[in-house]
Amino acid sequence: LIAAGVARVVIAAQDPNPLVAGQGAQRLLQAGIAVDSGLLADEARELNIGFFSRMLRQRPWVRLKIAASLDGRTALENGRSQWITGEAARIDGHAWRRRAGAVLTGIGTVLDDNPRLDVRLVPSARQPLRVLLDSQLRLPLDARILDAPGTALVYAAAPAAQRIAALADRGVEVVLRPGAEGRIDLPGVLADLAARGVNELHVEAGATLNGAWLRQGLVDELLLYLAPLLIGPGRGLASWPTLQDLVDASRFEFGPVEAVGADLRLLARPCARASS
Ligand SMILES: NC(=O)c1ccc[n+]([C@@H]2O[C@H](COP(=O)([O-])OP(=O)(O)OC[C@H]3O[C@@H](n4cnc5c(N)ncnc54)[C@H](OP(=O)(O)O)[C@@H]3O)[C@@H](O)[C@H]2O)c1
Repeated sequence: LIAAGVARVVIAAQDPNPLVAGQGAQRLLQAGIAVDSGLLADEARELNIGFFSRMLRQRPWVRLKIAASLDGRTALENGRSQWITGEAARIDGHAWRRRAGAVLTGIGTVLDDNPRLDVRLVPSARQPLRVLLDSQLRLPLDARILDAPGTALVYAAAPAAQRIAALADRGVEVVLRPGAEGRIDLPGVLADLAARGVNELHVEAGATLNGAWLRQGLVDELLLYLAPLLIGPGRGLASWPTLQDLVDASRFEFGPVEAVGADLRLLARPCARASS
C-alpha cells in the first residue's frame, strides 16, 4: 500500500493475531497515510469469527449443528435419524461444514449412522479435518469417517496400543486426551484443534456429546434445522439434567431465522449468564 501511494486506508477490525496486531497500521501512519480503524468492525469480526476465537481464546469457535423435528427430536428411539430434514437443509448443512476447519462427531453417531462427514453436496476445494471422539477406540476400521477424501483424527482416552497401531496403518492419527469419567477432555480437544489451526469447529453429534459440550459452556452457536414433522418418542437435542426451576434453564438468543426448503434454519447463541 505504501509503494502504491494510497492516501487513506480504512481498516474494519484490527488483526487479533498478537504477532501482527497493529503493526501494519503503524507502518502506514509512519508513511504519512491516513488510517481509519473500526468501520464495520462487528461485521468484520463476524466474517472472521473463528479466527478471532482462535487468536483471542486459543480455541475454535464451536458451532453445534442439529437437525430436529418440531417436537425437538433428533432421532427415533431406535436411533434412526436419516433423514429428518429435507434435501435443501442437508445441502445448506454441507455449506456450513465447508466453512469449518474441522467437523466433529461422537462414537455413538458413528456406530448408529456411519456418516462420512465430508463435504460433498456443495463444491469444495478442500475437505475439513474429520474428528471423532471415541474414548475406548470402539471405532470399526471400516467406518466411513476414515475414508478419503480428507484426513481423520481420533481423540481417545484409553491408550489401547493395538487399536492405535491398526488405525495408524489406515493413516489415522490418534491423540490421547483423557478427561473425567474415562471420557475425553473437551477443553483439551479444543486447545489441540486450535494449535492445529482450526478456526471453526462444526459439531454434528448425538444428544450425549451435544449435552457434554453445552453443559461445559463450550458452545458458541447452535445451527438448528427444524423440520415440520412430529416423530414422537425419540432422542433429544442434548442430554440434560432434570431441572426444578426454569431460572436454571440454559438460555439462548436467536439470530437470523431462514426458511431452507421446507425446513427452518435457526441460529442461536448462548446468553451471558446473570451473575446473581
Ligand atoms: N439429528 C441430528 O442432527 C443428529 C446428528 C448426529 C447424530 N444424531 C443421532 O444421534 C444418535 C447418537 O447419539 P449418541 O448420543 O449415542 O452419540 P454421540 O453424542 O454422537 O456420541 C456419544 C459418545 O461420545 C463419546 N464421548 C467421548 N468423550 C465424551 C465426552 N467428554 N462427553 C460425552 N461423550 C463423550 C462417548 O462414548 P465413549 O465413552 O465410548 O467414548 C459417548 O457415548 C444417533 O441416533 C444419530 O442418528 C442425530
